[in-house]
Amino acid sequence: MSKKLLRTLAGEAVWPPPVWLMRQAGRYLPEYRALRAQAADFVAFCTTPALAAEATLQPLRRFGFDAAIVFADILLLPWAMGVELAYRAGEGPVLAPVRDAEALGRLRPHAAERLAAVGETLAAVKVRLGEAALIGFAGGPFTVACYLVEGRAERDWPALRQMVWQNPALFDSLVDLLTEETVLYLEAQIAAGAEVVMLFDSWAGLLSASRLRRYVLGPTAAIAARLRRSYPQVPLVAFPRAANGLLGEFALTSGVSGLGVDSGVDLPALAGKLPRPLALQGNLDPWALRVGGVALEEEAKVLLAGMRGRPFVFNLGHGVLADTPPEHVARLCTLIGAAE
Ligand code: CP3
Repeated sequence: MSKKLLRTLAGEAVWPPPVWLMRQAGRYLPEYRALRAQAADFVAFCTTPALAAEATLQPLRRFGFDAAIVFADILLLPWAMGVELAYRAGEGPVLAPVRDAEALGRLRPHAAERLAAVGETLAAVKVRLGEAALIGFAGGPFTVACYLVEGRAERDWPALRQMVWQNPALFDSLVDLLTEETVLYLEAQIAAGAEVVMLFDSWAGLLSASRLRRYVLGPTAAIAARLRRSYPQVPLVAFPRAANGLLGEFALTSGVSGLGVDSGVDLPALAGKLPRPLALQGNLDPWALRVGGVALEEEAKVLLAGMRGRPFVFNLGHGVLADTPPEHVARLCTLIGAAE
């Protein structure tokens, strides 16, 4: 096993650490904007393997990252379950909300069968990768449920939180269904060539500790257990964003190989409290990258110094911001490559 990311996720303190960035493909790259203009809409873009494979590879060509993450979106799964989905400029994704048993009953199972395009993208990318590892992903069941229930990102997510507390039986059914669908979808991505899989639970921070255990930690552990049986060699990385107080418990009980951490956490301090075999991924503030200069240099150096000697995957605490200058990303890669 020579790929740096895979060695790190197996518990080795590889140095300099492997690096890739959440949302490394995207609007901050002029070549992405040109490619994006070739597709009728964002779903068509994600489900056209030639375009999606090219989008996946663009940041690797420019920066030589240690991993490619398949170009897709966490909301393709509900879309493939029959939910209307549109990405509106300046507004983000908009879905037909699922708020009662009837709407839940209309969700079509076995969505992965209708997402064969993502497998084709993975296969097309895999043969062109060299030493970079290939990452497949899905949304955490809770985060996908957030978008399904609310229908769009709202500041306070009122419909979602109302359902969590007022109709837990319905919300349990929704999360259970999404958990099963997520397992099948990730298994299909692994069968198509993904060497690592990642779960983005971007809205975990909306929940109290008890609901976090039930709707984020529980499903993550269930998915990890299922994948360990079907694909024991493929590491799972979870990203329960802003689940700060529960990260220790997550590390100990979820069964994942790696934990992605947002910028609000003192990563070296967390690392000091964890069992060694768990790799940590994160957590440079995307704003430090966007601003660049001294802010970027200092923040990256502190993180590198603090994580030296540990299994660590250099990443951001959240996605690359759309107006990040690409030269800042190149500078960051140089800094990491020179880490002593
Ligand atoms: O490079 C990569 O990271 C791979 C592709 C990827 C995308 N989305 C492409 C995308 C990945 C891994 C995601 C994950 C994703 N999608 C998450 C979890 C991570 C996170 O950011 O918290 C979430 C919550 C989504 C849902 C989503 N998709 C939103 C809220 C939006 C609109 C807001 C935005 O950032 O534009 C999207 C659209 C989207 N997904 C874009 C990209 C490149 C922008 C589409 C465009 O070109 O206009």
